[in-house]
Amino acid sequence: MKKSIVLKTAIPGPRSQELLRARQAAVPRGPYNITPLFIARGEGAMLEDVDGNRFIDFAAGIGVLNAGHAPAAVVKAIQQQAEKFIHSCFHVTMNEPYVRLAETMNRITPGSFPKKTFFANSGAEGVENAVKVARNYTRRSGIICFEDAFHGRTLLAMSLTSKVHPYKDHFGPYAPETHRMPFSYCYRCPWGKRYPGCNIECATFLEDFFKRYVDPSSVAALLVEPVLGEGGFIMPPQEYYSILINICRKHNILVIADEVQTGFGRSGRMFACEHWGIEPDIIVTSKSIASGLPLAAITGRAEIMDAPQEGSLGGTFGGNPVACAAALASIEIIEKQGLAERAGKIGEKVRDRFEGLWKKCPYVGNTRGAGAMRAIEFVKDRTTKEPAKELVNRISRLCYERGLIVISAGTYGNVIRTLMPLVISDDQLEEGLDVLEGAILEASQALQPAPVESKAAPIAPRPGGEGITGVV
Ligand SMILES: Cc1ncc(COP(=O)(O)O)c(C=O)c1O
Repeated sequence: MKKSIVLKTAIPGPRSQELLRARQAAVPRGPYNITPLFIARGEGAMLEDVDGNRFIDFAAGIGVLNAGHAPAAVVKAIQQQAEKFIHSCFHVTMNEPYVRLAETMNRITPGSFPKKTFFANSGAEGVENAVKVARNYTRRSGIICFEDAFHGRTLLAMSLTSKVHPYKDHFGPYAPETHRMPFSYCYRCPWGKRYPGCNIECATFLEDFFKRYVDPSSVAALLVEPVLGEGGFIMPPQEYYSILINICRKHNILVIADEVQTGFGRSGRMFACEHWGIEPDIIVTSKSIASGLPLAAITGRAEIMDAPQEGSLGGTFGGNPVACAAALASIEIIEKQGLAERAGKIGEKVRDRFEGLWKKCPYVGNTRGAGAMRAIEFVKDRTTKEPAKELVNRISRLCYERGLIVISAGTYGNVIRTLMPLVISDDQLEEGLDVLEGAILEASQALQPAPVESKAAPIAPRPGGEGITGVV
């Protein structure tokens, strides 16, 4: 197998260190950096830093590069559009890529009912706009969101986000009328129950929620990531969403799916909602939609999307023609190359490795996921489930030093998630997984007392249970 990782210098190399000093002087610390890496070029699942070191990328700019770094057809579409015109502002003079992309989003999102789509610039803006539409249509203001959810960093999106540190602390006051309920986190069940004997209390609880926290007649929408992203790729059981959604329908509450991270094939389906057969009233997408150009789509039932009056939605840059051209080319790649199916195959390989690690390493508490979005959650002790954040930091650092970019997740920062480009080759995938497995075992060995071959119970049935959960 030809190796893809090439490390020419000590990491970070001299040019990276020089840029790092400039970065520290010129840029505040708030916009954080996971690695000290400065990228010079990217191709497929590989990236090269400014010192000529080549890395395998298991992060893809946080799930943005499903079609890979700089896919040729997307680069060409960007160049061709930029040569014609870069900006029009849809509200002043319209452009064709905007309308064609709206048609495409209406076609590929779940639900065969008539739909309409408009565009914004980021995931957070997409979520904010979905909430605006839902409130306007229902004439209600309440939004139900979830523990461990992440929806972005603007005021309303931050308010809907769960994790306090670092996303919310000292950024209040938060937007009102957001109501948070626990999510279906089988490994750390908020009710201390175990699937399937739990009777999916996390879903039926919504009726109780309406008695204790908010009257359903004041709730516009329930906002949910079908698989929690930043929260650590948490997968609800198969029955979960039908129970939640039936309760919402009973109270005329809309369902908004935030597919910003799960979208465009990553979960093994074009949209993760499809795993549960969910047809949300509004779906928000972004990240991989345009292979890295800033864009978000808000797609929903036509009658809902048409509720806000003319002039009430939009913005200067939303649906920029270059970004829309990039999105049309990206979606064509994802569809024609069958990247959702490929995500399933990638996921099988990652899942096998992670399940093997669960048997070998006692610090692996749980592994789960859908398609290529797989998570491995680390604990100091399988009984107490105390999160092992420091171990994850050590693993991430070792990976970086060995030429693999990985990122963590979870409210406790104790999860590693895989977000590799779906165009990754089998060899690159194996090489990356070898590095990750080596780093996990080495970092675990360094812990005291030294880990021994796990004597833990056999693998629990899935979904639900202890070690290995998730639906796909
Ligand atoms: C599920 C989800 N929603 C919203 C966002 C916010 O997107 P952005 O960072 O583009 O504002 C993210 C970003 O990670 C996300 O994962």
